[in-house]
Parts: sequence; structure tokens; C-alpha cells
Amino acid sequence: MALDPSRAWQRDHPWARIYQAVTGGERVGALLWRLGTGAGVSELHRHARRELEALPPGSRVLDVPCGGGIALQDVPHGRDLRYVAADISPAMLHRTAREAAARGVDGVVVREADMQNLSDPDGAYDLVLTFTSLHCLPDPERAVHELARVLAPGGRLCGSIFSTDAGLRFLPVHTGGRAIGVLGPGATRSQVRRWLADAGFVDAELEVAGGITYFHATRS
Ligand SMILES: C[S@@+](CC[C@H](N)C(=O)[O-])C[C@H]1O[C@@H](n2cnc3c(N)ncnc32)[C@H](O)[C@@H]1O
Repeated sequence: MALDPSRAWQRDHPWARIYQAVTGGERVGALLWRLGTGAGVSELHRHARRELEALPPGSRVLDVPCGGGIALQDVPHGRDLRYVAADISPAMLHRTAREAAARGVDGVVVREADMQNLSDPDGAYDLVLTFTSLHCLPDPERAVHELARVLAPGGRLCGSIFSTDAGLRFLPVHTGGRAIGVLGPGATRSQVRRWLADAGFVDAELEVAGGITYFHATRS
């Protein structure tokens, strides 16, 4: 029977702790991220800042999966946002809450959620962030539809995936991740593009950084 990677993350698989050390660490973490993904973690922050800085005050943000709260580093200081940080893993949410407190980001609500089946009403958010995410799910296409559903018309989606067509160099990452049960089937870049269109997104932009593909799109 195929392993459900989301359940492994939910139970705080040992890899989740290593991942947190990589993304939460400073120089060594950044180096390990570069070795694993073939690009700098600064790429993630650049994409997150592009969307967060463009938001008017009072905007509603869903960061799912928030992991250890990496995108909180990119919330403009003092910006009035309604920021929901959601993840399937209680341990990750605990890390995010700690990160929000340490960085003095006010008003962050942390919440357990399965991004393939969100409890939010339609159109609840102006921006959804979903970094380093779709490759960790059993059903990433369904998640893309859920993210579209909870975005208001004109709302923005920004995220990333370790795509399966990133090249041979990244094959060990995919195979190893599948073997230890923390990665799902993933997707190629053209699948991601198609899923975004099918879910009702327009103006999709995909940008490749090593093994990771970042995407931005607008909810029609
Ligand atoms: C590789 S981490 C990425 C976290 C963060 N966005 C980042 O870029 O560092 C993957 C995250 O997905 C979460 N996750 C896995 N399956 C999920 C699901 N079905 N719904 C919500 N979160 C999920 C895990 O708990 C983990 O925090």
C-alpha cells in the first residue's frame, strides 16, 4: 500500500525535524538547502516578499503549509494583515507560533488543516502562500483546487514545488523522499501549469530555481 506522506508529516516524521533545522538554521541551513535544491533559500523569500509587500492593509493571507513559519520572515514590519498559518502537523504549528513570537509578527492565527480539504468558506483569502508544498501531498491536484476555492476573485496564489522534471541530479531526492514516505507523486511543470488553469487561475508565471519551481497566479 502506498504511504500517505501527509500522515507522515502530521506525525512529525524525523525528516520534518531535519527539514526544520535546514530552513530554520542560518549559514549551515542555507548551505544544506542549496545542496538539496540546487538554489538559494533566498529565492523563496524573494517570491514571498513580492506578494506580501503588494498587499493592502487588512488583507487576508493563508500560509499553507506554513511548516516552521519560514514565510513569516517576509511579512513587512508592522503591516496590518490577517495571517492564518496552517499545517497538518501540530509540531510544525508549534514551531510557527514560536517563530511568530520571536519575530514579533502580531495577529498570526495558527491552525491545523489538510490543504486538500480546507474548512474555510469560498473566497476567504486575498493571498495564499504554499511554499515547498505540492510534492509533499498524496493528491496535489486536489490541493490546487482547494487553494483556488478559498481565494477571492482577483486573489493571488504563490508557492513552489520540487518538480519531478527538475533533472537527473534531483532524482535521488525524489526517490529518497518517496522511500522514507515524506514525498508524494509530485508533478511536472506542465502538470502544475495545467492544474492552475483547470482550477481557475490566470496569468500563471512559473520560474525555475534549481530543482524548485516557483509559481504565481491570479484567481479569475
Ligand atoms: C517541505 S515542508 C514546507 C513548509 C514550508 N512551507 C516551507 O517552505 O518551509 C512541507 C510541509 O507540508 C506539511 N503538510 C504535508 N501534508 C499536508 C497537508 N495535506 N495539509 C497541510 N500541510 C501538509 C508538512 O507538515 C510540512 O510542514
